[in-house]
Amino acid sequence: MRFAPQPSAQLRLIACLLLTAGVTASPAVSAGCPDRCVCDDQLVVQCAGQHLTSFPVNLPLATRQLIISNNRIVELPPLALNYLSDLVYLDCSNNSLTEVSESTFGNLRKLAYLDLSFNTLHRIEDRTFGPLSSLVMLRMTDNPGLSVIHPDAFAENEALQVLDVSRNNLTFLNITSLIAQPGLRSVGLSGNPWSCQCDTEDLSLWVHLESFKFQGATVCDSPADMQGRRLGEVGIQLRTLCHQTLGSWDYLFFVFIGFVIFAAGTVSAWLMGVVMVLYERYIKKKDDQINLENEDEGDETGHMSRGRKDRNNRSLQTSFTV
Ligand SMILES: *[C@@H]1O[C@H](CO)[C@@H](O)[C@H](O)[C@H]1NC(C)=O
Ligand SMILES: *[C@@H]1O[C@H](CO)[C@@H](O)[C@H](O)[C@H]1NC(C)=O
Ligand SMILES: *[C@@H]1O[C@H](CO)[C@@H](O)[C@H](O)[C@H]1NC(C)=O
Repeated sequence: MRFAPQPSAQLRLIACLLLTAGVTASPAVSAGCPDRCVCDDQLVVQCAGQHLTSFPVNLPLATRQLIISNNRIVELPPLALNYLSDLVYLDCSNNSLTEVSESTFGNLRKLAYLDLSFNTLHRIEDRTFGPLSSLVMLRMTDNPGLSVIHPDAFAENEALQVLDVSRNNLTFLNITSLIAQPGLRSVGLSGNPWSCQCDTEDLSLWVHLESFKFQGATVCDSPADMQGRRLGEVGIQLRTLCHQTLGSWDYLFFVFIGFVIFAAGTVSAWLMGVVMVLYERYIKKKDDQINLENEDEGDETGHMSRGRKDRNNRSLQTSFTV
């Protein structure tokens, strides 16, 4: 990433080297330079502000820095880009890019700096930056329609130190994978229409707890009662607000369950009572029936004993009634 202070001197030097050493440079290096671009001996290809509408062709394969900013390029062709496996620095800012995907950067394992600012990206999918294992700085600001960044978009960028997603159209950012990045030291979130509701609680608390990492004023845009408040200041409020809501639902649930248990208990007790009463009546009826039957039987077989008993009973009754 060094910039040659005296390009003419450097050029002369490399010319001398090439002349004296013969053509020792690899074919990749001597493959020429794209139209309207300037290629130097430091393997820097500079194509900024050249009214390009497509990705430059005929790039030296050993290119380490590629600057294609301030053009109207609409697409980064994965095939052409991924030949540049030595690329360390890629500036695509201020173009008309609408899409980047996992295959766009599939082979750029040495890339440390990527700038996608001032484009027209709409969403960043899972693993878009996954192959960029050396990525240290990612600038992706000023994409006015960029409203979705997948939770795992940066999950594999363990070298990431600086992330700037300022001035996009983000209302929400899932920080689960970002918060786990060990080296992350600067995050730009300002100028997005943050929606400060319960799902933004984690982000707010992160901004609150590690405010030194966050650049610029980051404020809520919605809901109405949160508008204009700093993102880092609403975290605590969201925490109580959102968990209280959850708690009251829990309480409601417990009250409901309690009522159900109470009602079930009452109903089953009543049912049991009814069953008991019916059963008792049934038993009584059966006993009476058996007694009647026994009496009938007694008339025929146990005549004597029963007759005596009955007589005793009757004498008892008469003595009582007297
Ligand atoms: C974007 O590039 C155009 C030229 O293509 C230039 O006029 C404009 O100032 C640039 N905008 C930014 C924000 O750099
Ligand atoms: C930003 O997102 C909102 C929806 O969240 C959408 O209505 C609006 O059109 C978007 N803005 C731009 C510039 O795309
Ligand atoms: C963030 O993403 C993770 C994994 O994709 C998910 O488990 C979690 O619920 C998400 N958090 C929010 C607040 O949506």
